[in-house]
Amino acid sequence: MPETIHVSVAWPYANGDLHVGHLAGAYLPADIFARYHRLKGNRVLMVSGSDSHGTPISVEADKYGITPRELFEKYHHRFLTTQRDIGISYDLFTHTDTENHHRVAQDIFTLLLERGYLFRETQQQLYSESQKRFLPDRLVEGTCYVCGFQDARGDQCDNCGTLLDATKLINPRSKLDGSTPVVRETEHYFLDLPRFAEVLQVYLDRAEKAGHWRDNVLSFSRNYAANLQARAITRDLDWGIDVPLEGWEDKRLYVWFEAVMGYLTASIEWARNTGQPDAWKDWWYNPQAKIYNFIGKDNIPFHTVIWPAELIGISGIYNDGSDQPINLPYDVPANEFMNIEGRQFSKSRNWAIWLPDILERYQPDAIRYYTVMTFPESRDADFAWDGFFNRVNNELVAAWGNLVNRMLGFASKRYDGAVPVPGELTEDDKSILALSVATLSSVGDMLAAVKLRGALQEAMRVVQEANAYLDRRAPWKLIKADPQDAATVVYTILRVIDNLKIVLAPFLPFSAQQLHTMLGYEGQLFGTQVIETYQESTRAHEALTYDASAATGRWEPSELPPGQKLGEITALFTKLDDTIIDEERARLGAPRQV
Ligand code: MF3
Ligand code: ZN
Repeated sequence: MPETIHVSVAWPYANGDLHVGHLAGAYLPADIFARYHRLKGNRVLMVSGSDSHGTPISVEADKYGITPRELFEKYHHRFLTTQRDIGISYDLFTHTDTENHHRVAQDIFTLLLERGYLFRETQQQLYSESQKRFLPDRLVEGTCYVCGFQDARGDQCDNCGTLLDATKLINPRSKLDGSTPVVRETEHYFLDLPRFAEVLQVYLDRAEKAGHWRDNVLSFSRNYAANLQARAITRDLDWGIDVPLEGWEDKRLYVWFEAVMGYLTASIEWARNTGQPDAWKDWWYNPQAKIYNFIGKDNIPFHTVIWPAELIGISGIYNDGSDQPINLPYDVPANEFMNIEGRQFSKSRNWAIWLPDILERYQPDAIRYYTVMTFPESRDADFAWDGFFNRVNNELVAAWGNLVNRMLGFASKRYDGAVPVPGELTEDDKSILALSVATLSSVGDMLAAVKLRGALQEAMRVVQEANAYLDRRAPWKLIKADPQDAATVVYTILRVIDNLKIVLAPFLPFSAQQLHTMLGYEGQLFGTQVIETYQESTRAHEALTYDASAATGRWEPSELPPGQKLGEITALFTKLDDTIIDEERARLGAPRQV
């Protein structure tokens, strides 16, 4: 029975380009996982989109004197091409400013309101008289009323760690223009999270018992769920989704309240775009379906507590958590942070590695390879250019690329451009072949358990074994003394390479496809990514989609037939020059124009 897998990927704020932190945190793990399940023949729906609302977008737009919509549309378009070029294979990558997303988000708000999960309350908040607007807590600075630190942020003091009440800051000032804000009253809707406390406990207990959640995700979620407080889900803003109530024209839905709904709204949009408007229900109402949320660790409570609460709130059966008609996340394999050359990512200091930039200089599979090998799966990791240089040259080029190019080149030259006909396989031949077949299970199990770095390490271990086998059997020597035996070795290694191609394909989809063609196969391992435009009643929007119609790849042992004509043999990977290390380091922290 094919499995039904939903891959829900964090929605990036469309206020700047994508960087390796995004790639390592969520998008690449999600893509590898989705590609694996597609090769297994499972039903995959992978969605995400640009998070187009919220203060991060408005603040950035103000800097350039453009509208939030102009700003997010620019970056949304760049997200589409960047992610296509690095091969993040969303079935749909849309955005939160579609009519569909607005409508579903407002429907969910209304349903939660009708069911009594929302309440209204008057709050005190800091207001900027110079800018005529309320200031979000993190846009205010002042002296911490607990420890006296002078540059505390309105939401939290970086010196003593206290979560602050921004209205109590001493000497508050706006981070936007330095002016002194005043305290004003404002009314908001709150999501009554304490009402969900019990059922969320049941949900987390089950996750713990099932045992597949990462420790950090579980403990973070438990802490958060143990101290549930109601959260404001509206804001005094003009950019965002309207609150669907009379008298609330000046307010918008809080970005986090509606962005997480994107997993559902994008599934609905995908179904409608493909002409089967109910198809999304297979992932959301089928109790066998599994929903995986790929996110960075800063997003954990939104996905393991708040989004599940919203889902429980709209599904209606919530008393004991035993009968959920709508599916909650099955796993939330959050990654930690990716530092760069030993320092934290910083947009303002341009301490960042931007994907559109490095895609101009390096092969997408080289970037993917190094990123997976440094995945921050259990602790923060570091992207270092000497590490990139060493791993790409020593592992990708010298171990895997060289194995492929050497043996396919040899076969092509010595056996008339075709897979040679083997004689009887020796024990050594049989055992390397068996190992490469077994790798489909060992790597497959790790991929299914979202242990992606370990899975790639295991695949590369087998690449090393294959190289050692070749050194022992040395067909380039045998060919003179015992041509039949040489043909057996070449045939064996081509089958091994064919198996490794499948095992590596989720990680290295571009070079796997190239190798597939070099081995003489026709057709595509995976589908193709296409940027489409969809027209809604008042607006059109662009989206990245995945056309699976031509995909033929299967997570199955090679059946490479003797006599199959090989394709044209070209180098899989480009060797890097060691000058790139200093060149790339020099780019860090230097000004950048987009
Ligand atoms: N835009 C948020 C961020 O970049 C992530 C939102 S994930 C979502 O941190 F699911 F809520 F959209
Ligand atoms: Zn403090």
